Formats: sequence, C-alpha cells, structure tokens
Amino acid sequence: MNIKLLKMKVLGDERGKLVSLEANKNVPFEIKRVYYIFDTLPEEDRGKHAHVNLEQLIIAIDGSCEFILDDGKEKQNIVLNRPDIGLYIGKNIWREMKNFSYGAKLMVLASDYYDEKEYIRSYDEFLKICKEK
Ligand code: TYD
Repeated sequence: MNIKLLKMKVLGDERGKLVSLEANKNVPFEIKRVYYIFDTLPEEDRGKHAHVNLEQLIIAIDGSCEFILDDGKEKQNIVLNRPDIGLYIGKNIWREMKNFSYGAKLMVLASDYYDEKEYIRSYDEFLKICKEK
C-alpha cells in the first residue's frame, strides 16, 4: 500500500520543541496547500474518500485519531498520536478517520490545490478504479 509513516526530526531545547517540514526533503512532494482540522469530536468520522492524484502528509499536531486506509486490496489501521510522526498517503487510497480525541488537531500538507473534481467519494467507484489499474 502506498502509505508511509515518516519520523520527523525534532529540534528541541529547554524552551520547547520544533519540527520543520520542507518540500522534497522530509515531505516527499512539492507542497501546494496546507489545511488543518480542529474542534473534532470522537463520535464524528471524517474522510471516506480517495484522491485521484493528490498526495498528502498528515500530522496529529495535538491529540489523536485513527485512520483506516484501503488500496482496494487490503486495509490498514493506523493511529496518529504524535506531533513528530507524519502519515504519508499516496494517490488513490481510500481513507476514513475516526476515534478523534476531543479537539484533536490534524495538520495536512497536500501536493495540490483543492479540487473537488479530484475526489473519489463513492466507495464503489473507488473499487472500480482500483480494478481498472
Ligand atoms: P473533506 O476533504 O471532505 O474533509 P475530510 O476528509 O476531513 O472529511 O472537506 C470537507 C469540506 O471542506 C468539503 O466541502 C470540501 C471543503 N474543502 C475545501 O474547500 N478546501 C480544502 O482544502 C479542503 C481540504 C476541503
């Protein structure tokens, strides 16, 4: 499955900690967009889509959340709960996010601008695309 957990280098001293994210260095693509998710609730799931071409790197800056990742052949569950671990999700991976801790904060770096046409929001369509590949 085209996903990876990336451990980010933490720069820290007595004042606190810092992680730097750089395109084509520790982030494996050119970053065109950053968005963040906050005010989350444990009973509210998110995601339930795939992207045709988009690559993303997702970091739980605060709190935690569970990802169910699916490439049409296998599924994998990953819990993000550390601000120094990034979850890279490649193209055409169905993702669902659940079990958010109250007020979790997820930062998402994306390889392209927002484009609703690029989303696959039907699971049946996603499976069809996987079979064609
Ligand atoms: P969506 O990607 O479906 O959220 P999630 O995967 O976290 O459940 O986006 C939610 C809404 O926000 C949807 O109407 C599209 C819109 N949106 C933008 O306008 N710009 C963006 O960059 C993103 C990520 C979403």
